[in-house]
Amino acid sequence: MAKTLRRAAPPSAGFSPDAAMVLNAIARPILAIDGANRIAYLNQAAEQFFEASASSAIGRDLSELLPSDSPVFSLIAQVRADRHSITEYGVAIETPKIGAHLVSIDASAMVEAPDGVVLSLHERSIAGKIDRQLVHRGAARSVTAMAAMLAHELKNPLSGIRGAAQLLEQGASDEDRALTRLICDETDRIVALVDRMEMFSDDRPIAREPVNIHEVLEHVRRVARSGFARSLRFVERYDPSLPPVYGNRDLLTQALLNLVKNAAEAVSEDDGEIVLSTGYRQGVRLAVSGSGRRVDLPLVIGVQDNGPGIPEDLRPHLFDPFVTTKVGGKGLGLALVAKVVGDHGGVVECDGRPRRTLFRLMLPMAPEGGQRP
Ligand SMILES: Nc1ncnc2c1ncn2[C@@H]1O[C@H](COP(=O)(O)OP(=O)(O)OP(=O)(O)O)[C@@H](O)[C@H]1O
Ligand SMILES: [Mg+2]
Repeated sequence: MAKTLRRAAPPSAGFSPDAAMVLNAIARPILAIDGANRIAYLNQAAEQFFEASASSAIGRDLSELLPSDSPVFSLIAQVRADRHSITEYGVAIETPKIGAHLVSIDASAMVEAPDGVVLSLHERSIAGKIDRQLVHRGAARSVTAMAAMLAHELKNPLSGIRGAAQLLEQGASDEDRALTRLICDETDRIVALVDRMEMFSDDRPIAREPVNIHEVLEHVRRVARSGFARSLRFVERYDPSLPPVYGNRDLLTQALLNLVKNAAEAVSEDDGEIVLSTGYRQGVRLAVSGSGRRVDLPLVIGVQDNGPGIPEDLRPHLFDPFVTTKVGGKGLGLALVAKVVGDHGGVVECDGRPRRTLFRLMLPMAPEGGQRP
């Protein structure tokens, strides 16, 4: 492991880090496993994560760090068999020593070492997002009961108020008509809000079929172009051979519309650009908690804008309902995206850098969609 890194340019004077130095500088736990599942290397972050020193761990069996029924072992076996990298999201690692952690794991085969596998664990980053996403679902559920109650208790009286205002309007003076209009407009606004909240109250499994996501994106783009994103430039980076998503067309349309609307609201009018992209990424999976099952999520759909990015303090709560920085915003758009993607068994990620704010949905392929051509 302690090999000097090969460099393209001449080394800068006095600085030639070896591989171990570089790996120790990485805050993510990294382990190398040999063909017999023995630990061949661990960086300092891995020592901390597993609460084991390199000197005591190297040469030992991985099952001394992890329970032997850990999903990590089947992940390693699959990487050996397939010889390509796999990213698995939502893997629970739990031992009496280190407690419970939810991580995502990048597992890659080592080209030079037969059956050697490198594991890189990501705690709190993407895994944290998923963890939060599960919490979002909880948050969405607490909104559920309230939404159902509000819908029931508010919508009927509101339609009564609206009807009465319309009746009054008929015999009203111009001055009073402005007031009856106000009553109608405001009741419409409340009904629209209650309608949006009602979407969260549906906990039934969604109806799914193979969906051509390019048709959905095209529809979303057309709706945006004819309304809120009239002056913005759209760039499409599609993988035309993408297999169908196993999804619900209406819900995916709603989720993508919300992402495009947020992007349009974030960018400036004169050089605003929204990039819609699709792609196929092999080896992305989500561990279904408690079942030992994994869902493959090879279809990646991106909505990117060149706006100012997501404020740092907003990020931990980005997908929570009622989180908004907009005057008149409801903070329900991203909560809906999280709910829709969650109902599809997928993952939503956000990379909120200035000039390159990217929301990425990772979704499953339709079972009949067959293999990637
Ligand atoms: N593309 C983006 N660029 C910058 N900030 C964003 C972006 N998307 C979302 N945000 C931030 O996240 C917040 C929450 O977004 P969300 O869509 O949930 O609610 P909203 O847009 O404020 O209201 P609405 O309910 O009308 O969608 C926004 O108020 C904004 O601050
Ligand atoms: Mg929004």
